[in-house]
Amino acid sequence: MSDIYILGIETSCDETSASIVKNGREVLSNVISSQIDIHKEYGGVVPEIASRKHVELVIPVIDDALKLSGIEPSSLDAIAVTYGPGLVGALLVGVSAAKSISYGINKPLIAVHHIEGHIAANYIQSPQLKPPFICLVVSGGHSHIVLVSDYGEYEIMGRTRDDAAGEAFDKVARALGLGYPGGPLIDKYALQGNPLSISFPRVTFKDGSLDFSFSGVKTSVLNYLNSSSQKGEEINIYNVCAAFQSAVVDILVENTVKAAQKTGINKICLAGGVAANSQLRTTFSEIAKHNGMEFYYPSMSLCTDNAAMIACAGYYDFLKGNFADLTLNAVPNLKLGERFIT
Ligand code: KG4
Ligand code: ZN
Repeated sequence: MSDIYILGIETSCDETSASIVKNGREVLSNVISSQIDIHKEYGGVVPEIASRKHVELVIPVIDDALKLSGIEPSSLDAIAVTYGPGLVGALLVGVSAAKSISYGINKPLIAVHHIEGHIAANYIQSPQLKPPFICLVVSGGHSHIVLVSDYGEYEIMGRTRDDAAGEAFDKVARALGLGYPGGPLIDKYALQGNPLSISFPRVTFKDGSLDFSFSGVKTSVLNYLNSSSQKGEEINIYNVCAAFQSAVVDILVENTVKAAQKTGINKICLAGGVAANSQLRTTFSEIAKHNGMEFYYPSMSLCTDNAAMIACAGYYDFLKGNFADLTLNAVPNLKLGERFIT
């Protein structure tokens, strides 16, 4: 088979990104324009501002991705785009751009689930990786334990019952006055703190479910901060970060390892923005070594939103002939496993 070149487009949240990926795993370009500095002022992503910025940036970012890759639009084999889940206005910008290009150059359109993209980031990072494996997907909007039984085949084994892991990081960081996004800042502060200095709850469910709940630990941190300030006690931010992060990491690791043991699959992958967390990576590395498991995680830049992961996920749909048509729409609450195929 001749080489396959896919243009990936990602605009589901606050990153406008375009990428050209060859044969599903070789990234020729991956241009990411982040709006974090703009949203920082507001302490979180403002959907209307995100959509407007995507409109300004999407074409220049796609142009840059094509130029950097040295690939002419006519040499593209398909256009893969995130169509959900995410902010509807933001998603629509990428979907509209992808549909226009697909129509203009008469090449197939592929509709990609954002989380499938995050999972696929592992294929780019570790070209030898093949399913089946267990993937812990942890981002600002998701916390899922996913059994990836084959390319494009997913079963959710555990999910959050309230806040996503990244959301909990962002909310705790906001309460501590650290800024946005909170995950990287808590990660940094935690390095200088003592995780055993404060005990925050680790929630597991009695029914044997591998679901998560992070609102308890978040509330517990907020209560700790309130009662400390009422008592006039000085708050050690480093210790709060270290203790909170440990509580979240412990439960993420415990449930993911249980999922691996339950299925007899000894390969674990991480995906999503929270997968950039240093303690999460170190803890998984140690546990995997101890239990004779293989452990994979994407580089920092492939953990957070980017279009290379979307092009990579789209490649496996391309091989199966799973194409969308020009009626494709953004689906803000798209479920994993649902797909738009014509
Ligand atoms: O995957 P992502 O870029 O966007 C979503 O699809 O949500 O994830 C963003 C999330 C944010 O909540 C951010 O605080 C978190 O990932 N994050 C981290 C770290 N880096 C980013 N959380 C913990 N530790 C980090 N080092
Ligand atoms: Zn994401």
